[in-house]
Amino acid sequence: MRGPTEPVTRAVSARLARAGCVAAHEEAEELVALAADDPLVLETLVARRAAGEPLAWVTGTTRFCGHSVVVHRGVYVPRWQTEPMARRAVALLPERGVAVDLCTGSGAVAAVLAGARPAATVLATDLDPAACACAAANGVRVHHGDLDGPVPPNLAGAVDVVTAVPPYVPTWALPTLPSDARDHEPPLALDGGHDGMAVLRRVVAAAGRLLRRDGTLLVELGADQDRLLEGALATAQLVVRRRLVDADGDLRAVEVVRTQGRCRDGPVAERPAGSVPNLSA
Ligand SMILES: C[S@@+](CC[C@H](N)C(=O)[O-])C[C@H]1O[C@@H](n2cnc3c(N)ncnc32)[C@H](O)[C@@H]1O
Repeated sequence: MRGPTEPVTRAVSARLARAGCVAAHEEAEELVALAADDPLVLETLVARRAAGEPLAWVTGTTRFCGHSVVVHRGVYVPRWQTEPMARRAVALLPERGVAVDLCTGSGAVAAVLAGARPAATVLATDLDPAACACAAANGVRVHHGDLDGPVPPNLAGAVDVVTAVPPYVPTWALPTLPSDARDHEPPLALDGGHDGMAVLRRVVAAAGRLLRRDGTLLVELGADQDRLLEGALATAQLVVRRRLVDADGDLRAVEVVRTQGRCRDGPVAERPAGSVPNLSA
């Protein structure tokens, strides 16, 4: 059905298409609705998008696993390709379990975990203060710092599920990324060093410190990077249980289990709301 905004939407759609937006019409509808009949607001939104800023930065939100996620300008936009990994993490997290989301960015994965397991303890970390502020805006208990560095020491060897979407693009491949990512998203979120593995290897080591016996690491990576992780996995006493592939058969993530360490102590619910459980017994 045609509405009063349709000519405006068509004009915006044409402008976005000229700027190279693939889903120009859907994006135009979103921006027109967001501008709420204010032409100056609409012009600002469209100009930003036409200049290549990620749509989620322009609108301030995106959808992830059916949730609306706040995405601040300058923070990595959660990808739909990460959703199966987040859903798998929910399936593996006991009702009153403990999860740590390393490299949390906007906190999308942590927010899904906390939403699905409200009695669980879900913590997150990120090295970028802007990402931490964004994750906090999504209700995530986020700690600023390097990987597991800021995680309370009493969680070492006691975590049920570690998730991570670290930067894993090899530096040489950054110019091949879509322009939204290449020209706008922070290199800290994307650049994995010369082979893409610099943070990935350290994520594996961190998971080795955090996970209890039989606890699971779910980590996103690029094609073939699982082979490059073999040494780090062996050192951390972690074993690949499953490979998560997308509809094209491309590897998206690995599910890895810790074979050593102490077993789960049982429920960790007997703690004040919002506190970190003491699992050091
Ligand atoms: C690819 S983004 C993923 C964000 C989020 N997990 C998601 O899927 O939307 C990677 C994130 O890792 C963070 N990061 C990079 N190096 C880190 C480190 N050494 N410790 C903690 N966070 C780090 C970046 O700031 C960025 O927010």
